[in-house]
Amino acid sequence: MAEVVPVDAQPEPAQTPVQTAPGTEPGPLQIRNMEEQDVDFVGRMLVETFSDKFEHAVGKSRMEGAVQQNTKMYGRSKDVWHRYLVAVYEGRPAGVMALKFHGETTEVDFQCGEACSYLGCCGTCGLFWLGAYTENVNIRVGQCYLDHIGVDADFRGKGIGKILLDRADFEARQRECKSIFLWVKQSNRAVRLYERQGYVVTHPFGGCFSRCTTGSSEWYNMEKQL
Ligand SMILES: CC(C)(COP(=O)(O)OP(=O)(O)OC[C@H]1O[C@@H](n2cnc3c(N)ncnc32)[C@H](O)[C@@H]1OP(=O)(O)O)[C@@H](O)C(=O)NCCC(=O)NCCS
Repeated sequence: MAEVVPVDAQPEPAQTPVQTAPGTEPGPLQIRNMEEQDVDFVGRMLVETFSDKFEHAVGKSRMEGAVQQNTKMYGRSKDVWHRYLVAVYEGRPAGVMALKFHGETTEVDFQCGEACSYLGCCGTCGLFWLGAYTENVNIRVGQCYLDHIGVDADFRGKGIGKILLDRADFEARQRECKSIFLWVKQSNRAVRLYERQGYVVTHPFGGCFSRCTTGSSEWYNMEKQL
C-alpha cells in the first residue's frame, strides 16, 4: 500500500526563479533607462566610443562638432530614450547601450540643416551615409538587436560591459525574444567578450559600400540564442 504523505510534508511544486534585472542589485553599478540628465553623456559617449567610424565619416577636425550635433539630436529624440540603457558606476555615468526590437521605430531626429552648422556639408554627408548603412538593420520577429554598446575608457575592464550584456539578455527575454544579435568589426577586441557571453559569428559581411561609409569592410554578425 502507498505511503500517505501528510500534506505539510509534501514537496513544494517547482517554481521558476524570478530573475532580478542585472544592474539593479545593490552595489556600485546601476543600469537604468536614459533620462534627461544623460543627454550630454550619451551624445559624447557614442562619438568617443565609435571615434574611428565618426572620424571616417566627418573628418578628424570635426569630432567636437559631431559631439555637439549628436548631443542636440539625442536631446530632442525623447521617444527613443526608453531604448537606451545607461550604466552608472559609483554615481557617475559610465556606459550606454541601445536595444532595438522588431517593428519599433527607433530613429533619432537627424536634421540636415543642424548637422551642416556643426559639420559642414561634407561632414553632414559622411554622417548621413554612415547612418544609412548602420541603421539599415533587418530585425526579424523574435529578435533583439544590440546597438551602440560602449563603456567610457575610464571604466573599461571592470566588468561593466559584461553586465550590460547580461541586462540586454534579460530585456530581450522579457520581450520573449529567441535571439539577440549585434554587428562588430572583425578586428575589434570586443569579439572575445561577446564570445564569452555566448555569441557566435553567424556570418562575416562588409565590402565596398561598408568601407566607404564606416571605414571598414570587414564586419561580423554575431548572434546569441536566448
Ligand atoms: C567593448 C566594451 C563595451 C566592453 O566594456 P568593458 O566594461 O570594458 O567590458 P568588461 O570589463 O566586461 O570585459 C572586458 C572585455 O571587454 C573588451 N574590451 C576591453 N577594452 C576594450 C576596448 N578598448 N575596445 C574593445 N573591446 C574592449 C575585451 O573583450 C575585454 O576582454 P579581454 O580583456 O579578454 O580582451 C568597452 O570596452 C568599449 O566601450 N569599447 C570601445 C567601444 C567598442 O568597441 N564597442 C563595441 C562595439 S561592437
